Amino acid sequence: MRVLVVGSGGREHALTWRLSSSPGLTELHAAPGNPGIARLATCHPVAADDAEGLLGLARFLGVDLVVVGPEAPLVAGVADVLRHAGLTVFGPSAAAARIEGSKSFAKDVMAAAGVPTAALLDSTRVPCVLKADGLAAGKGVVVCRTEAELVAGVEVARGFGDDVVVEELLDGPEVSLFAVCDGTDALVLAPSRDFKRAYDGDEGPNTGGMGSFAPVPDIGDDALDGLVETCIRPVLGELARRGSPFVGTLFAGLMLTADGPRVLEYNCRFGDPETQSVLPLVDGDLLAALAAAAGGSLSGVALGRLAAAAVTVALVAGDYPSSGDRGTTIEGIADAAAEGALVFHAGTALNDGRLVTNGGRLLGVTATGPTLADARSAAYAAADRIRIPGARRREDIARTDALAG
Ligand code: AMP
Ligand code: GLY
Repeated sequence: MRVLVVGSGGREHALTWRLSSSPGLTELHAAPGNPGIARLATCHPVAADDAEGLLGLARFLGVDLVVVGPEAPLVAGVADVLRHAGLTVFGPSAAAARIEGSKSFAKDVMAAAGVPTAALLDSTRVPCVLKADGLAAGKGVVVCRTEAELVAGVEVARGFGDDVVVEELLDGPEVSLFAVCDGTDALVLAPSRDFKRAYDGDEGPNTGGMGSFAPVPDIGDDALDGLVETCIRPVLGELARRGSPFVGTLFAGLMLTADGPRVLEYNCRFGDPETQSVLPLVDGDLLAALAAAAGGSLSGVALGRLAAAAVTVALVAGDYPSSGDRGTTIEGIADAAAEGALVFHAGTALNDGRLVTNGGRLLGVTATGPTLADARSAAYAAADRIRIPGARRREDIARTDALAG
């Protein structure tokens, strides 16, 4: 099978890595990819949101499957353009991707499907959460616990434009749940958690994600099946009923509250950097599953979950997320890999054959082990081998005392 992966981040590197070992693979391509992806796939200089460019490329290459990584192209309808031209695509239509693209649409679908979520409030009063209605790259949520936070939050929310959703503030540990969906049926992957804040102890601004781990302890197979029944299947049913079946990864961002699970948001794609921890734990042929889902039927396809754990630590520019370092030499990736870790590229570039930083999150270092503690020490030991002047990381990813929430 000839496959084209669309995107250029750590998530797409992890997808490319995992697909590259599938027995059914004959050719692997990426657009636009990154220097890490280029070691596994042929990269083509077509942007992830250039639908016509991607269509031309996919036709030229004669690919059998296109896997779209990021949300923005999906919400903009890239999958529709490819699908209407007869290509097989893993990634939802724009109509189905609205589940991520519009918070109010997601709330409406959840209400119709009977999915437990935070209640909508009709006024802004503490405690509450303010959310921008549209895509905001993780920066569209303000949690207001105090009057002072509310005053500041309302100011921030003005920047979101007219459409702001106000909802009840919930409390509890968070879980990222990824389900590979064919429109009606779903295969769930290992539950994971990301670390959104920039600094240790969940301090500082929100980021694209400073690390992740999987699986989340204490969610057994029965509990996981329960979450799929409560939070995934009803939404698939409702979207199909509305004439926009969801084909791709439905990602439920959940909070496990004292009153049971509540969905905070849906995303229409794999999470970054959770994917880097989740995919090494897949027991089975991911390509076969994505191709079956994209083809419209997961029937007869199964994916197991290895009885192991994985931890991913992001290495970021010192001033991330405010701006990003560019052009600094990166060394030691081979040393980290020699420790058994996977090093996924996010913000890297090649400069005269030299690997350099290219802003934002730079690398994700992922290690697996029999327990979360083993995976954690292996990930940090490998990350220690990488030398990037001025870069930093969080030191508390997957630390036991960070696991409660
Ligand atoms: P979202 O983009 O909706 O997932 O929100 C981003 C983050 O804001 C979540 O991961 C939570 O940490 C927090 N959050 C969102 N909604 C709520 C809520 N209703 N109660 C408490 N925290 C929330
Ligand atoms: N890590 C959360 C996300 O990808 O949205």
